Amino acid sequence: MNTLRHHLATAEVLVCCGSGGVGKTTIAAALGLQAARLGRRAVVVTIDPAKRLADALGVPGGLGNDPLRLDVEGPGELWALMLDTATTFDGLVRANAADDEQAERILANGFYRNVAGGLSGTQEYMAAERLHALHLDDRFDLVIVDTPPTRNALDFLDAPGTISKFIDHPLFKLLMMPTRRGLKVLNIATQPLLRTIGRVVGGDVLADAVAFFQAFAGMETGFRARAEAVTTLLQSDITRFVLVASPREDTIEEASYFAGRLHEAGLEVGAVVVNRCTPSFGEPPATRPRAADKAALYDNLVELNVNAATERKQAAALLTTTGVPKGVRTTWVPTLPGDVHTMQALATIRDLLFG
Ligand SMILES: Nc1ncnc2c1ncn2[C@@H]1O[C@H](COP(=O)(O)OP(=O)(O)O)[C@@H](O)[C@H]1O
Ligand SMILES: [Mg+2]
Repeated sequence: MNTLRHHLATAEVLVCCGSGGVGKTTIAAALGLQAARLGRRAVVVTIDPAKRLADALGVPGGLGNDPLRLDVEGPGELWALMLDTATTFDGLVRANAADDEQAERILANGFYRNVAGGLSGTQEYMAAERLHALHLDDRFDLVIVDTPPTRNALDFLDAPGTISKFIDHPLFKLLMMPTRRGLKVLNIATQPLLRTIGRVVGGDVLADAVAFFQAFAGMETGFRARAEAVTTLLQSDITRFVLVASPREDTIEEASYFAGRLHEAGLEVGAVVVNRCTPSFGEPPATRPRAADKAALYDNLVELNVNAATERKQAAALLTTTGVPKGVRTTWVPTLPGDVHTMQALATIRDLLFG
């Protein structure tokens, strides 16, 4: 049952992946529209910094970090939000801190404010974390994720593991140790390793970092448990991956790369959408017309059909890629005459996806 229709009816998390510009955001939003029509309460999460989703959904004020309910055809609901890494991280700190005092100490810390959000993997981890939180949120029964348009888009699959690795890192352990022993201040001057790091990054940064890790004491368990829960959710059967590609050779290659990444993580593609295909205008008449204007139209039609056939052949290669199991369906969506920046155009895409 590897069809979009089946996934939309049964999945609790749908992840749209593919390279930039292929239409992930558009497809994610169209899936959301259909979900609402099927009576599901869906939320679309975009981690794409571009404001395209807001455009497509007709939210002129833009989307924020909190879910916003959109005015769409029922009986279900459609909500949308734009992931804000910093706010999500703050919420996670508050939820895991032993008390308000510990939370405030971390939130006010210079290392946390300036460095933590920029550490590699943080954004991906927060995306995974948010996905998990929304999945538990009683307001929704389907979370649709629109991944960012980068090769690192699937890093959030590894992100929960990254946070565990970080917690197990010897440097982290070293920084945590003094508080475990009950010492209040870690003496940078007496630790040769820290002295060296301090010389490189500057004493203030290091002092902030040390204070951050000390303030973090006791929260590792909570973070680790969350990270494991996120991994379990991504690997469970209620999460399905929708691979979006356009029929151009480079984006098909990129889509194969994504499928491979999923496969490495022990996951599989659940459905393929090939977007922005050459539309079909039917078969040309059996013989080429004599009149010049009609002959030109005939030639155009023949050329379009040749293009469409080539695209289909190229894109069909995706179905034999590692990570795309046998039986996965491809849905072909033609290029519309204009961009998809209105609810009406989005509804057209939905109808093309679901017939
Ligand atoms: N089938 C389509 N026909 C016409 N324009 C499309 C179609 N699908 C997407 N677009 C347009 O292409 C652009 C890129 O789509 P978008 O969904 O933002 O891609 P991504 O999220 O993968 O970067 C947008 O301007 C969108 O309106
Ligand atoms: Mg996008």
